[in-house]
Amino acid sequence: MRIVMLGGPGAGKGTQAQRLSQQFQIPWLSTGDILRHEIVRQSQLGQQVQPYLEQGQLVPDELMIAFIRQRLLQPDTAQGWILDGYPRTAFQAEELDFLLDELEQRLSWAVLLEVEESILMQRSLARSRLDDEPTLIERRIQALFEQTLPMLDYYEQRGRLLRINGSLTPDQVEQQLLTRLNASL
Ligand code: AP5
Ligand code: MG
Repeated sequence: MRIVMLGGPGAGKGTQAQRLSQQFQIPWLSTGDILRHEIVRQSQLGQQVQPYLEQGQLVPDELMIAFIRQRLLQPDTAQGWILDGYPRTAFQAEELDFLLDELEQRLSWAVLLEVEESILMQRSLARSRLDDEPTLIERRIQALFEQTLPMLDYYEQRGRLLRINGSLTPDQVEQQLLTRLNASL
């Protein structure tokens, strides 16, 4: 199973990705969580991406594409993965497909967790990470509309997009997801 999870800040990408990763016994890769960790470590990557996360902006495509490329070449991802927060632009989506072609692998589904903006804001404000502050959450929502949602056509045209109502409880969202994924196996 190879799944990308799409949705705004607080849509539940991480929550559901973690559950799917346990269900299918495949790694869960959250680009946002990895980047935050690199910032705490002040690694070279962390220092490069820090200004973007601190402003609620997307990290440049080149950096993310190179990062995902080296990550998906690691042996633990050979049998599948759940990508949480990647791709986020049409360019990243195309590059992911090129990489998968090269690896002779195929994306199973792009899952979009649909949640209205006021709930995104409410859920994100309920926690306190580096970038969970109202103006930054707003910027992340703006990035979702301007840079990520236009990418949906890419998956829709390929018949790979699963739209899931993300505003229900975590258990209900998981149930919908598993039903749709199992129906497609
Ligand atoms: P990222 O970490 O991906 O942030 P995000 O998209 O803003 O999403 P979140 O992690 O805030 O939300 P989530 O959907 O995972 O929700 P969660 O399950 O945690 O990215 C951060 C930054 O990194 C970006 O701004 C960018 O700078 C950079 N970045 C990352 N990837 C990039 C890329 N590919 N290209 C460029 N830049 C990139 O849930 C949120 C909260 O709600 C939790 O408290 C949870 O318990 C609760 N919750 C979850 N589901 C439910 C539910 N169904 N009902 C009630 N509560 C729920
Ligand atoms: Mg997350």
